[in-house]
Amino acid sequence: MSVWEKRDDMVVHEEEPFNAEPPPGALAGRATTGLESFYSRNHGPIPDLDPDQWRLRVDGLVDRPLELSLTQLRGEFEEAEVTATLQCAGNRRAGLIAVRDIPGEDPWGPGATSTALWGGVRLADVLLRAGLQAAARHVAFAAPDISDLADPSQPYGGSIPVHKAMEAGVLLTWSMNGQHLPRVHGGPLRVVVPGWIGARSVKWLTRITAQEQPSDNYFQATAYRVLPAEADPVRAGPGDGISLGSLALNCAILAPAEGAVLPSGPGRITGYALAGDDRRVARVDVSLNGGRSWVQADVDPGEGPWTWQHWYTTLDLPTGDVEITARAWDSTGAAQPESPAHLWNPKGYANNSWSRIKVSCR
Ligand code: MTE
Repeated sequence: MSVWEKRDDMVVHEEEPFNAEPPPGALAGRATTGLESFYSRNHGPIPDLDPDQWRLRVDGLVDRPLELSLTQLRGEFEEAEVTATLQCAGNRRAGLIAVRDIPGEDPWGPGATSTALWGGVRLADVLLRAGLQAAARHVAFAAPDISDLADPSQPYGGSIPVHKAMEAGVLLTWSMNGQHLPRVHGGPLRVVVPGWIGARSVKWLTRITAQEQPSDNYFQATAYRVLPAEADPVRAGPGDGISLGSLALNCAILAPAEGAVLPSGPGRITGYALAGDDRRVARVDVSLNGGRSWVQADVDPGEGPWTWQHWYTTLDLPTGDVEITARAWDSTGAAQPESPAHLWNPKGYANNSWSRIKVSCR
């Protein structure tokens, strides 16, 4: 185990702030991701909060502002558990960088996606206890980790619309896979917003504010937005581009590994697909000829409405260099776009183009 008790073969994009993803094979075929393999995405130093001193403020457009300790959260609200996949908006950015460089952004592979069983209380219950007012349209989250990547430098934050905040799957969590929520994943408490980009699942949560407008935090107002290809990201200001929230349909091949040397003949191909928000994966196709013809993979149902779905197929791998391609369809009938070139954007978010790997068969 290396830093933050992660597996030794984590792909560490940055030590400080810590940004790391597991090798794709570590995610293959597992409904939930072990804590040692779960990706970690940070914008600043990881805070060390004393759980006894920690308090959560709930304020803004509420009739009864609250200040809650962990003991109060645990004792005064009904406990809830949700199995949910987190996916970073920068997941699979490497595919966009292959089209055109994206300076200053990490080349995440498909491993900025992981699934855990989260335990805590429903955000909706806390908002109802506080007396959420009808004028509230957004629920903002604040954390103490200060990021120098923001302009100006500021603590991390973000928001979600009230309709999402009131969903039963949105939790204030203190446990992950049945263990205390590790510090690196937001302990003592984080919000988990299933089906939305990971950026909204704010870690080390200290304040929830009900308000009319979305958060003006840098990571909501300026970052995590899809800018037009010709835009200069350094000059982007609040409100520019498309704000990311609900995740787009995506899939990735997890095994075999990119560049693997395999025996020709029947070969098992597996991966994940994630429909995003309240959609489901309806079909996954796999091709050995760049998409001229496809074979349907078996898709598992997932652990619940908020998780990825693993898929599997066995195909007859020919001798030589083989490109394996996968694409998913969702329950609305939408399919993934073919090319990352059509999706390229200056910050490298939301690459959901077809997944491709190259292997060599002998
Ligand atoms: N919360 C805080 N306070 N600071 C952060 O840097 N990163 C966000 C989100 N919550 C972040 C945060 C992003 S972009 C993602 S993808 C997820 O946390 C990653 O969660 P993880 O590190 O537990 O995998």
